[in-house]
Amino acid sequence: MFYYPHDFKMTRNTLHCERVPIHQIVEEVGTPVYVYSYKTLVDHFRKLKSAFKKIKPLICFSVKSNGNMAILKLLVGEGAGLDIVSGGELYKAVRAGCPGERIVYASVGKTPQEIKEALKAKIFFFNVESAAELDLINSIAVQKKVVVNVALRFNPDVDAKTHKHITTAVKSSKFGIDAKTVHEIFANHASYPGIRFSGIHMHIGSQITQAAPFIEAVRKAGNMIEEGRKLGVAVDHLNLGGGLGIIYQNEEPQSPQGFADAISPLIEKLGVKLILEPGRFIVGNAGALITKVIYVKESHHKRFAVVDAGMNDLLRPALYEAYHEVVPVNHNAKALDDSLNYDVVGPVCESADVFARDRKLGQLESDHLLAIFGAGAYGSVMASNYNGRLRPAEVLVKGNQWEVIRRRESMKDLTRYDVEEVSFLDNGNHRKAKRKTAKKSVKSLH
Ligand code: LLP
Repeated sequence: MFYYPHDFKMTRNTLHCERVPIHQIVEEVGTPVYVYSYKTLVDHFRKLKSAFKKIKPLICFSVKSNGNMAILKLLVGEGAGLDIVSGGELYKAVRAGCPGERIVYASVGKTPQEIKEALKAKIFFFNVESAAELDLINSIAVQKKVVVNVALRFNPDVDAKTHKHITTAVKSSKFGIDAKTVHEIFANHASYPGIRFSGIHMHIGSQITQAAPFIEAVRKAGNMIEEGRKLGVAVDHLNLGGGLGIIYQNEEPQSPQGFADAISPLIEKLGVKLILEPGRFIVGNAGALITKVIYVKESHHKRFAVVDAGMNDLLRPALYEAYHEVVPVNHNAKALDDSLNYDVVGPVCESADVFARDRKLGQLESDHLLAIFGAGAYGSVMASNYNGRLRPAEVLVKGNQWEVIRRRESMKDLTRYDVEEVSFLDNGNHRKAKRKTAKKSVKSLH
């Protein structure tokens, strides 16, 4: 009755990640905690790689979906490149040991500083999102006497048939450059001496379950590439972005092989090298958020399981009304009383702080553990301290071993960056006091 993703399985009525019982992790690390399966992560990367083995694309894991350093390092070790969107992600990518030639950089708002840092790291490509950004990169490149690889992010105007907040390639979207402008830039390519126009980039949306929107987008990009070639621009890369959908509930996403079989012939015909930027496909179902029931709250209308994770830990249900499977960590499927329905809610002071509605979860009590699946992508990366809550720990499981890959935040972390003493708010008393102690410590030096 529940959907168990890949390497999360019930064995002897208790949930395991690979061979580790979840309750064992909780006993040491507490809740809420994100738990990831090494095997799922690596399997998914390898599945995609082998589905496309004929055309050998560069697969750049999308750091925005999960930026944990241990996860980045293990994927880079598998041969993945990284898709980044900020100076912060560049810093992490370099620290994770990703060679520059495997880093591609998107984002509608790269700052001059970020562009310079990416040049220093010798990244493979900038995925350029506007004519204004192109001008800036060109002038920085000319100044530094280098020629920079650029893929224009083309907005193909296709409907990816997914949630409106994660659709990115329709005319009204802030992302990408429309066909006419791409054409104008290509026609004008000689006036960008600092730019090598070596690619077209697209990202048409996320959680896309069918091949059709990708095929339509590749066709449109193909026309764009042909046009470029006619205008003297040797475009030899097509970056198809991310977007592959996964199962959260009962979706039937295309298989990696089906996707590869649909796309590869088009790429071969175009004579370009393919780049992919998957995030969710690799890490989404590799992770679960484990939380503990604090109270079961019953009113005359409803039954709530109030848990110790909140929307600050996993924002997707509140932000997108996203469905995530919720499963009791310890239960006997045969004996489960399915007459009991719960809304699973967090402690945050927001009505949107609801993980699941009307779920049959059996007889829940305080201290029972629940697993929220599909939390590996856009989970911990979107966590915050809202309501003074500590961001959760993260654990990586491999076989029967496990290790904390991010420690739980502490109370001290909550005030770490705040300046508590503001001198102009206490008539300078604080500053005077500070000066006195400074004088004293100078005296004590003599
Ligand atoms: N490449 C680019 C340029 C992107 O903007 C994205 C995601 C990806 C690749 C990776 O897409 P994926 O393979 O993961 O679908 N927070 C939302 C998803 C936002 C996606 C943003 N861009 C969610 O939780 O559903």
